[in-house]
Amino acid sequence: MNQLSEALSNNHNKNIEELKELLRIPSISSLSEHKEDIQKAASWISNKLKNIGMEHVEIIQTKGHPIIYADWLHQENAPTVLVYGHYDVQPVDPINLWETPPFEPDIRDEKIFARGATDDKGQMFLHIKAVETLLESEGKLPVNIKFCIEGEEEIGSPNLPQFLSENKEKLSCDVVVISDSDMWDKGVPAITYSLRGLCALEVSLKTANSDLHSGMFGGGVQNANHLLIQLLSTLHDSNGKVNVDHFYDEVIELTEFENEQIKALGFDEEKLKKSLGLTDLTGGEQNYLYPVRISSRPTLEINGLWGGFQGEGTKTVIPNEAHAKITCRLVNNQHPEKIQELVKKHLEEYAPKGCTVKISLGDTGNPFLTPIDSPMIQKAAEAYKNVYGKSPVYKREGGSIPIVSDFSQSLNAPVVLMGFGLPDENLHAPNEHFNLENFDKGILTICSFLGLIEK
Ligand code: BES
Ligand code: MN
Ligand code: MN
Repeated sequence: MNQLSEALSNNHNKNIEELKELLRIPSISSLSEHKEDIQKAASWISNKLKNIGMEHVEIIQTKGHPIIYADWLHQENAPTVLVYGHYDVQPVDPINLWETPPFEPDIRDEKIFARGATDDKGQMFLHIKAVETLLESEGKLPVNIKFCIEGEEEIGSPNLPQFLSENKEKLSCDVVVISDSDMWDKGVPAITYSLRGLCALEVSLKTANSDLHSGMFGGGVQNANHLLIQLLSTLHDSNGKVNVDHFYDEVIELTEFENEQIKALGFDEEKLKKSLGLTDLTGGEQNYLYPVRISSRPTLEINGLWGGFQGEGTKTVIPNEAHAKITCRLVNNQHPEKIQELVKKHLEEYAPKGCTVKISLGDTGNPFLTPIDSPMIQKAAEAYKNVYGKSPVYKREGGSIPIVSDFSQSLNAPVVLMGFGLPDENLHAPNEHFNLENFDKGILTICSFLGLIEK
């Protein structure tokens, strides 16, 4: 380990320069004007994998953005690790709130600021660096390694499931390792053992065949905005519970042990309120604790809402259509497609008189839950302890990585979510950054993990 950390500190500046190169490529998966940047990022990564000594490096084109595959398979009797990560990033708006431009990486206070710094280029790259460090210092790896790096995570991985099911042999492994999550706190590592799933819907509500003058018709005809608000307000009860029939039927409640753990970890409500500029934390189901509500309970959120006049000044109009975008975060054992249908049915049934309601169904992604006592997770915990001097906390994550459940099902291998981000690194927001301490320690932790699972 000491030898490795020496090798690493010698390479520190070079490693940071390389990470900066990757962060300069604006590989935003949701915007078609960045299609070429996505290709650029894919070839940058595949070149890097070749340069460090990975073999069979391929860029696999899909209907969407490419997947990168590479392997090193020279340890016949050792396990095989599949590393997953994503090189696509979220859009940068609102751009005016960035202190330095999102694709001009800048280091301040031992943190690297750029879109994708923590989610997920920085965290993905540290696996490449771990492999490079081991190959450079020892000429070989303790285990077999495969990389599968995709460019569509931030848009729900629409093409990766097909690639998985068509390439089971190629991707077969003894463990999947992913660094696309966070630690508990500075200096306190975490292993994520659960992710929430997701399903999306859009509601369009229509009344008359045109907008109407609110002087001539006001008080007489129905207003699409009012009806949509009425409809949407039936989705939760006064306690914040989702009011859709059978919504909670398949939810697994936390075990006694998990509840104890969450209580023992505690959470600083005052600090959180202060940092968010809130006086209360009243979202979601009021009879569950905040840390439980944001990680282990399903939710239904209205993400967007529009209708009627939005321009400058006043317009005395009765709008004839209104729209809403909705997503649910789901937990085991909820099925995204079933929940979509339940919410659709509810919205159709509760549609107020005097309008038509159309529901379209959007993306889905499965939740994920894995036992924490599996041998691979215990090895990961040991690796964290070796590097951070502290055993990791086990946590459930409220966010989603939709492909994780597909990995665990179709490859029949345990998935270990070893995060190196911190909860306050502004992923998806302005001034995203990654703490360089965790970049370096992350590389060492992965090296340690690979050494520990050797036999
Ligand atoms: N890496 C995140 C998920 C995440 C966030 C894990 C925070 C742990 C802590 C991932 O890139 C992400 O943003 N997922 C999206 C999925 C969606 C776009 C389908 C999410 O959770 O909203
Ligand atoms: Mn991510
Ligand atoms: Mn993300």
